[in-house]
Amino acid sequence: MSFKTLILAAGKGTRFKSDLPKVLHRVLGKPMLWYVVKAAKEAGAEEVVVVVGHKRELVEEFLNSEFPDVKTVYQKEQLGTGHAVMCAKELLDGYRGKLIVLNGDTPLVQPEDIRKLSETEGDMVVLTAKADNPTGYGRVVREGGEVSYIVEEKDAKGEEKKIKEVNTGIYAFDATKLFEALESIDNNNAQGEYYLPDVLKVFKERGWKVVPVVAEDFSNFVGVNNRHELAKVEKILLERIVKRHQLNGVTIHNPEAVYIEPEVKIGRDTEIFAPVLIKGRTKIGEGCSIGAFTEIRDSRIGNNVKVETHCWIEGAILEDNTSVGPFAKLRTGTYLESKARVGTFVETKKARLKRGAKANHLSYLGDCTVGENTNIGAGTITCNYDGFNKWRTEIGKNVFVGSNTLFIAPVKVGDNSLTAAGSVITHDVPENTLAVARARQVNYKGKAESIREKARRRKNEHSGKDS
Ligand code: UD1
Ligand code: CA
Repeated sequence: MSFKTLILAAGKGTRFKSDLPKVLHRVLGKPMLWYVVKAAKEAGAEEVVVVVGHKRELVEEFLNSEFPDVKTVYQKEQLGTGHAVMCAKELLDGYRGKLIVLNGDTPLVQPEDIRKLSETEGDMVVLTAKADNPTGYGRVVREGGEVSYIVEEKDAKGEEKKIKEVNTGIYAFDATKLFEALESIDNNNAQGEYYLPDVLKVFKERGWKVVPVVAEDFSNFVGVNNRHELAKVEKILLERIVKRHQLNGVTIHNPEAVYIEPEVKIGRDTEIFAPVLIKGRTKIGEGCSIGAFTEIRDSRIGNNVKVETHCWIEGAILEDNTSVGPFAKLRTGTYLESKARVGTFVETKKARLKRGAKANHLSYLGDCTVGENTNIGAGTITCNYDGFNKWRTEIGKNVFVGSNTLFIAPVKVGDNSLTAAGSVITHDVPENTLAVARARQVNYKGKAESIREKARRRKNEHSGKDS
């Protein structure tokens, strides 16, 4: 059945003690609100509307960038969840279908939960769950099996507080009836707010059908009101993500110490040695091995790639059969063609290493191309920055770059050339050429002994003075 969704996200989140609105606090790299909007969309909502209020510009900026088709309505003052829904009345004017209301602070909600609710008959369908620890949630008070009302924690008295069935804050309403019922609620309660759950009584008084649906698993509906709860929710989500990858054929050693964000994709037979952080839109292929203490962000990694321990890889593309690390830093714009290798203490940025090219140790390769099968000697640096501008170094194929070569960019080295160790290359090197750019060595025979003799003399004179 078709439905629209309204997500309440105007609250400040006082209990977060933060300058950032609560719904923008991140769970595994994504704002809580991202998860809720995504669940609503995946459930098939024909329209998603978000109620914004506190620091609305920040929430709207996030929505515009991630979900440009989501509409927002403004709740100027946060007078309660019932009042928040009222703010959407005008936008939804004339909509006669089902309206699913969700809280922006329950990021674990699943599309299936929303779909199930949308398919349940009733003028007000309220999703409830049994919580081991119901503290903080609205309690569902039943009489003879039927729900008679929902009471908030702060208003609950003795017996009510002991009730374990809680309001998840997720409901499906007949939109027309909802906006009508909202006219009749008041704010005579402990918080002086217009509570959305209070419409339940109004629905019942009017003889409209109220249907409770009890969810099987409360963990999908944990509300996040402070950073402790944020961490709990993040843990639950992480466990789910890890399990999904494991069941898809990824081996994760020490899974308690792995951090994988929700959009990460990992191919089968890849092995991960935690602690590891894999973030953003990273995609890792099949048969790879990712070493411990490595962080990978927004990168694309092919098949059979070996990333050793202690690497940092951001915005990079690694083709099949490449290898990296240990202790390598691959920054944005790094592109390793197949069989290329970047080794220990090598930093790359906007560097393309073509097929089979290697930089095994201690190098900085920035704004450069390294041709096929070229070998970069230890200590090589592309001097890409002159204090004002960045310049490129282009190195051809089958080049042997001697250790400790400095390339003063812009500079080009032709195919099959060599640079002598310790060279400072300031001019282009043609093909098949040896470039030597360092002072020639001079050997002074017998000079070693005469220098030592001089030193000895000086030392004796000195010690004579002291005594
Ligand atoms: C709410 C429910 C409670 C339920 C719980 C589930 C009410 C009164 N209580 O409590 O029964 O068990 O969720 O998690 O609804 N918001 C606004 N405008 C406002 C106030 C809140 O947009 O004026 C938004 C908040 O940003 C938040 C959501 O509504 O995303 C829920 O508000 P919150 O204050 O967290 O309600 P709870 O006390 O958790
Ligand atoms: Ca809440």
